[in-house]
Amino acid sequence: MTFSLLVGAIIGSHYQSRVAVVIELQSDQGVNTASLTDGRPSAGLRVTQMLEEHLPLVHQIETQVYDFPWSQKVFADCLAAGYSCHLFWDGTDLVGYSLVAIAAGEAHLLNIGIDRQYQRRGYAAHFLPVVLNITSDLGGRVVYLEVRPSNKAALALYRKFDFDQIGLRKNYYRGLTQREDAVVLSRDISGNI
Ligand SMILES: CC(C)(COP(=O)(O)OP(=O)(O)OC[C@H]1O[C@@H](n2cnc3c(N)ncnc32)[C@H](O)[C@@H]1OP(=O)(O)O)[C@@H](O)C(=O)NCCC(=O)NCCS
Repeated sequence: MTFSLLVGAIIGSHYQSRVAVVIELQSDQGVNTASLTDGRPSAGLRVTQMLEEHLPLVHQIETQVYDFPWSQKVFADCLAAGYSCHLFWDGTDLVGYSLVAIAAGEAHLLNIGIDRQYQRRGYAAHFLPVVLNITSDLGGRVVYLEVRPSNKAALALYRKFDFDQIGLRKNYYRGLTQREDAVVLSRDISGNI
């Protein structure tokens, strides 16, 4: 296990009980107030922890929404490292997921995906702030992420939630014909989200 994975594992186990409390609060909040950006109220919006048993379903979504999906093993490694890994539900439907690594106040949003059939219905807009709140409760003060310049949907989502570009990593991603840069974004989450 690398040092960073070990740190992640320690942080994960240290905060496990707090995570459960945070999620219960979010879930209660969802029952009373949740509505999607199309105005459609949805009492069943919930966030739960991702567990090993969910990985086949998560991986189904991953392969559907990315040209270069993570393997199921990468998800398993994130869980084993104790990263903050969550599932997004609408009733009994799994609509998406997120994975965040947090260490020394810095959080890295490693992945967020919404099942294709639920996209453009306000789910990411509902769940991203929930994830940022959980990340803040777990000690994250700044969130970093990388995104492909060609990923207009994700860039628009992050802009909507006040992420700013802080850099560009050249030739960071694999591409279908050539490598693609990564736009590096960050957002302070130490205040109001
Ligand atoms: C990016 C993603 C998570 C957005 O999820 P979503 O639930 O469809 O997003 P929402 O419906 O909540 O939309 C929220 C905002 O995102 C932006 N957005 C989402 N989809 C968009 C699209 N196809 N085109 C342009 N903007 C889009 C808009 O700003 C939108 O706000 P608006 O409705 O007021 O215009 C989803 O497209 C996805 O899973 N993509 C594949 C995985 C991915 O790229 N993850 C990010 C990796 S960095």
